[in-house]
Amino acid sequence: MRTKIGLLPQAPAKSLAVQVVLLPASGAAPRGVLSDAEQKRLQHLRSRGQHLALWPRGLDLLVVASAKKDAEDKLEHWRLLGFQTWQAMSAQGLETADVSTTLHADLALAFLEGLVLASYRFGGYRKPAKPAASELKQVRLHAPGLTATMLSHLSFELEAVWRCRDLVNEPAATLTSVALGKAFEAMGKEAGFSVEVMGKKKIQALQMGGLLGVNRGSSIPPTFSVMEYKPAKPLNRAPLVLVGKGVVYDTGGLNIKVGNGMETMKCDMAGGAVVASVLYALAKQKAPYHVVGLVPATDNRIQADAYAAGDVLRMHNGTTVEIINTDAEGRLILADALSYASRWKPGLVVDLATLTGAAAVAIGKFGCVGMGTHAKALEHLTQAGETTHERVAPFPFWEEYDELIKGDVADLRNLGGAFAGAITAGKFLSHFVSAPWVHLDIAGPAFVDAPWNYRGKGATGYGVRLLLNFIHHHFTTLS
Ligand code: BES
Ligand code: ZN
Ligand code: ZN
Repeated sequence: MRTKIGLLPQAPAKSLAVQVVLLPASGAAPRGVLSDAEQKRLQHLRSRGQHLALWPRGLDLLVVASAKKDAEDKLEHWRLLGFQTWQAMSAQGLETADVSTTLHADLALAFLEGLVLASYRFGGYRKPAKPAASELKQVRLHAPGLTATMLSHLSFELEAVWRCRDLVNEPAATLTSVALGKAFEAMGKEAGFSVEVMGKKKIQALQMGGLLGVNRGSSIPPTFSVMEYKPAKPLNRAPLVLVGKGVVYDTGGLNIKVGNGMETMKCDMAGGAVVASVLYALAKQKAPYHVVGLVPATDNRIQADAYAAGDVLRMHNGTTVEIINTDAEGRLILADALSYASRWKPGLVVDLATLTGAAAVAIGKFGCVGMGTHAKALEHLTQAGETTHERVAPFPFWEEYDELIKGDVADLRNLGGAFAGAITAGKFLSHFVSAPWVHLDIAGPAFVDAPWNYRGKGATGYGVRLLLNFIHHHFTTLS
């Protein structure tokens, strides 16, 4: 992210940047911002029920965003207006904006969030576009109660979403399990959290049979990244451990994915990318929480010695698993990470994974699916989901589902059958967790193949804003 974000001293009369005015559904603009003629046009606009207008002003542009009556206080409404504003700006190659409003700072910040996130592009592999695609270079904001601290806090969060998207969009040919570990090391060094990337020898010594089993089909060794952010006086005594699925590419293995479904599978490490990006933002923000991040990583491919259906794997905690389908690989590598997490005696474990197509089939891209054993944390995550609009849909976690993954040859099977696939995957994970725990299946929203407002196309970064909002509220209210 190259956007410079700063305070606008006051609504300037003359500015070289696009001027953006955010207005309540009714009521006047800040004094002196709109001319009489513009005031009239605004009244006309409102009388037609519209809430976004772009008016030329000399060489530049004036953007007037006026709230919808029933959505005036809705953060998502302002994020979407930010997105629309960026569409208008980029169409004209405009790259800097001065935003002023009499509305509450939170709403102005939501607008900024939509504007900045909408301006993301994964340009990695394109020839320079002609004319060069515009970049959001600078935004300055003026709103009642808005402070420089609030702005820098948000800009670290946006930077984290940006980085998460970059990691997920990077093809597996370059972002291997080893490269992923290196990328985490670089993020830790820059932001100030520790990163240890364990290689195959250590993973073998730890007897992580799930990660090693999935990795048998790959010519590249697995990695297991351990990240830790521990400030001097954390508000949470027992750490929060975040676990993210790091399958850098999922072909399905010997149960290969047929038809379409494989082409987006570079996204299968999105959970891991979210975990590292959350630590990145927390460290940059110097947030007072002790958080550990664990990312087991490998690709799931085919070579002569690839693991096969019928094999039995012995996991890190000793549980044995009969492989029914090699495409249900995420739960195998997460299982090892979840049992490894217990060495920190966590107050809470949250895992994020693009785990099942079933979660996406159930609710689409509009939310992630949540389940687990810490009801209060799941409730707080659901609340954070409403605030950030990275929503969480709690699923049932009844004990009857346990039957579906009970083993015959081994303790467990890695497949539950045709029904309730997202839940049986969660139930499988529950066998490896000893601390209070929430599982978030982000298979629906992590990666989209068509543009989706400020979330863009490809990687959305879904989960970063959700978790940051959750962390900032959960630990201040509970412990
Ligand atoms: N990585 C996939 C899940 C997925 C699907 C992520 C769509 C993102 C979008 C996972 O490893 C997988 O292949 N799951 C199988 C499980 C099945 C074999 C039980 C699935 O959902 O089809
Ligand atoms: Zn799979
Ligand atoms: Zn997968």
